[in-house]
Amino acid sequence: MSFRKILLSAALFTATAVFAADLPAVKILATGGTIAGTAASNTQTTGYKAGDLGIQTLIEAVPAMKDYADVSGEQIVKISSNNMDTKTLLKLAKRVNELLADPKTDGIVITHGTDTLEETAYFLNLVAKSDKPVILVGAMRPATAISADGPMNLLEAVRVAASKEAKGKGVMIVMNDEINGARDVTKTNTTNVSTFKSPELGALGYISGGKIRFYKESTKRHTVNSEFDVSKLDTLPRVDIIYSHIDDDPVMAGAKGIVHAGTGNGSIADPTFEALKKAAANGTVVVRSARVPNGATTVSVPKYTEAGLLESDTLNPQKARLLLQLALTKTSDPKEIQRMFEEY
Ligand code: SIN
Repeated sequence: MSFRKILLSAALFTATAVFAADLPAVKILATGGTIAGTAASNTQTTGYKAGDLGIQTLIEAVPAMKDYADVSGEQIVKISSNNMDTKTLLKLAKRVNELLADPKTDGIVITHGTDTLEETAYFLNLVAKSDKPVILVGAMRPATAISADGPMNLLEAVRVAASKEAKGKGVMIVMNDEINGARDVTKTNTTNVSTFKSPELGALGYISGGKIRFYKESTKRHTVNSEFDVSKLDTLPRVDIIYSHIDDDPVMAGAKGIVHAGTGNGSIADPTFEALKKAAANGTVVVRSARVPNGATTVSVPKYTEAGLLESDTLNPQKARLLLQLALTKTSDPKEIQRMFEEY
């Protein structure tokens, strides 16, 4: 190589190095899921092995991420998210807070299975102590499938995590070109790639025409404005969900909290109501939520209020459960817990 060529390539190397150093630093924490899933054939889209691939393989599959962020990865667990548990959730939350406190981190992306993705996202929305972007991302088709959605989802998640606009908006899910807030988003379809929706309150934004476009943000408390702190917790109070149905069974075992997934506007069958009333009288905090996907669960029949049952607002039962668990780490006063359900 001529001296001139060496000089030119040294200049190019320096420019690239400066450019990379100038990019926001985004850490990808991998937990498994279909985004890291592998199947026996490229047409197999069910019954595959979720969480099979490691984080380096996912990063190497999307070199374009490097145009937007200085990306590095860390494997937290390799699970299918139906196996997510409190221990892993707390481990993840603590690692997220450690990284967010580091001035060298500008944003975090978490790869996660879609089954419980909305729960992890909402939990982190309540306990992450920073306004830096935290983005959860998954995929509905395994990495080995034709038209796998994971690589584009991951690229878009990294782009949002690296963006200034994402700061201060709480934890978000980026999938299928949509940006949804952790509080309002839910999985709406068992297999379709367009599964994450915020049915009534709507998406926060989109990625379209190569641009990140935000249109709104949640008015509810989150992240830096949250009173919840997991730094000293190694478990959470037990909260059960009771799913209402015809002939449901009012037998309940010793939980600190119960979320009732009621019919309609959180309605409760009479025998189950009697059991919940007794549980509330004995100090178990009971929150009424609904198995209906849209709308708030509100104060309704006076006997529910008289029995001291609380309302979940628009939180679905699985998210109400997480908020009640965190609430019970601070208090068992139903009035105080109802305040939290109004504010978060
Ligand atoms: C999982 O939740 O880990 C499996 C399903 C998925 O990621 O879509």
